[in-house]
Amino acid sequence: MNRQYYVTTPIYYVNDSPHIGHAYTTVAADILARYNRLKGLDVFFLTGTDEHGQKIERAAKEKGHSPQEHADLYVNNFRELWRTLNISYDAFIRTTDPSHKEIVQAMLQTIKDKGEIEKRTYKGMYCTPCERFWTQKDLINGNCPDCGRPVEEIEESNYFFLMSKYQDRLIRHVQEKEGFILPESRRNEVLGFLLSNPLGDLCISRPKSRLSWGIPLPFDEDYVTYVWFDALANYLSATLYLCPAYRAEQVAGKDKLHSSCWWPATNQLIGKDILTTHAVYWSAMLMAIDLPLPENIFAHGWWTIEGRKMSKSLGNVINPVEVANRFGVDAFRFFLFREVPFGLDGDFSETALIKRINVDLANDLGNLTSRILMMIGKYCNGIIPESDSEDASIKDLCLSLFERVDKHLSCLAFHRALEEIWTLVSSLNKYIDASQPWSLAASSDKRAELQRVLYTSAEALRFVALYLIPFMPESAERILRQLGVETPIADLNLISESKWGRLRHGSSVNKASSLFPRIESKRQQPAPASSDLPSENLVSIEEFAKVQLKVGRVLEAERVPKSDKLLRLKVDTGEVRQIVAGIGKDYSPEDLVQRHIVVVCNLKPAKLMGIESKGMLLAATDKEGRLSIITIDREVSEGARIK
Ligand code: ME8
Repeated sequence: MNRQYYVTTPIYYVNDSPHIGHAYTTVAADILARYNRLKGLDVFFLTGTDEHGQKIERAAKEKGHSPQEHADLYVNNFRELWRTLNISYDAFIRTTDPSHKEIVQAMLQTIKDKGEIEKRTYKGMYCTPCERFWTQKDLINGNCPDCGRPVEEIEESNYFFLMSKYQDRLIRHVQEKEGFILPESRRNEVLGFLLSNPLGDLCISRPKSRLSWGIPLPFDEDYVTYVWFDALANYLSATLYLCPAYRAEQVAGKDKLHSSCWWPATNQLIGKDILTTHAVYWSAMLMAIDLPLPENIFAHGWWTIEGRKMSKSLGNVINPVEVANRFGVDAFRFFLFREVPFGLDGDFSETALIKRINVDLANDLGNLTSRILMMIGKYCNGIIPESDSEDASIKDLCLSLFERVDKHLSCLAFHRALEEIWTLVSSLNKYIDASQPWSLAASSDKRAELQRVLYTSAEALRFVALYLIPFMPESAERILRQLGVETPIADLNLISESKWGRLRHGSSVNKASSLFPRIESKRQQPAPASSDLPSENLVSIEEFAKVQLKVGRVLEAERVPKSDKLLRLKVDTGEVRQIVAGIGKDYSPEDLVQRHIVVVCNLKPAKLMGIESKGMLLAATDKEGRLSIITIDREVSEGARIK
């Protein structure tokens, strides 16, 4: 098995600030880099910025900067964003690095020396924003097929890379090399393109008279290199000057371009917008310099914002730093990869993000963690209990997690890997509900059983945290610390940690603040003016005092058969009582167990679907009829009166 793993992101233009799309590709690469490091592989994770070309020259001019000043300023936005999002890149390449420029020139010279670069006079339709020539038949209604903007007819002498001669080899490679282009739909798109059109040659120069901001051609000083040739070369050039030290024995006797210890890349992640440049241009460039093609190019889908294309003019550009600061870095990372299968288009909305946070993180994972820690605190004095047996079904789920997650991550199905982890989270919540540690704790002869349930739960939670490291590194580390695991996450190895029983008996758990607090929707009604306050149906304080409100803790919860609305709860309000509550559409039983609620205790008993209910819990109803139960925001013992 290859012990090296090399992952790349596109290098982003420094003409503007980064947005959610840039964050998406880079977090994807970060998840893969972290996962492969966790598996013990040598990882090289490359990102960076694309700093030459007309786009940057123009943006700099608008701001009154030189292109280099502009790049030096804007590159910081990317570096800062990657710091905020916890991106663990190994190298950050800038195409204005002197070493990169030298390597691009070496590539050009090599291809020229082979006779595969020719000077020609060319007349074509040019799209300035995209910096691309098109043929007449590429145009859509006379406009650029990529961006839809008008094109200009330009005639000039330029240098051409004879890409057309690689058409057959490219077709064969795409057809034969499984997994080269993913997803399958994108592979078919590239194949269709290669099979249905004669492949043209690629114009790889720009006359300095038209554009001076680029790498000079090594064989003609009147020209600079086409920005895409320069940019694509980064994936190789970074491995020649930004990667960990060369291995002398591998490099000996090779020329610079062929001395990389990291090439070919394992996964090259891009958005679907730049598939042709990568699958066709980049591949042909590599063939021309006799280097292997990357193992995989993965083109992911496009994010829209509440159903609309993201654009400055619509004012809907999502700033990832703001989202991360408001909702949490890990919640944002989680959302991006849980919400949408990698490869498909996705839609971002605050409502969808809040829903994911509240359901998957606050309810499922957050509650699970706090329940387990709280019970170990309460029933075992905060010490991981000893247990000489464990529950086989939970243990088996944990032990099979590696195979299931690895299978999905090796084909970049992030959402499926998260689904597998969440299968364990919900099984664990159900396991705790079914084994009822709170009841076991009440009988002295059930101590061994209690310890088994709590050890099994804590150890399984350790597996959850371990597999979450690549996705949510900070939260995963917090869960592990709370479970008493001291090893820094960078030193953990997935294979050795995926054994049952690594959580040590006798170590202390730490209860910390809630991992993922629920997010309440922003929309609030304005408070009525005092003259609008009700003046009828008022009750006296004595009348109100007749209603006995108490704090209750939910011990058990289950759905009432044949009802989607009713839940049967066993609640400790100082005495254990049964309540039937009509909250089943908004809460599932596992949301409620261990929650502190407010109960009307002196309500006349009633029967609902034949089940006796002694009391009622309080809940608020919003305009859409959604219920929100009233809870207590501090530790208060069961049975406390509410006055
Ligand atoms: O194209 N949804 O840079 P760029 C998803 N410099 N991903 C998106 C996105 C969206 N709405 N918008 C952007 C360039 N992206 C060149 C690349 S590589 C040798 C040169 C992501 O700043 C996606 O990865 O325009 C896309 O491919 C990339 O940003 C384009 O970034």
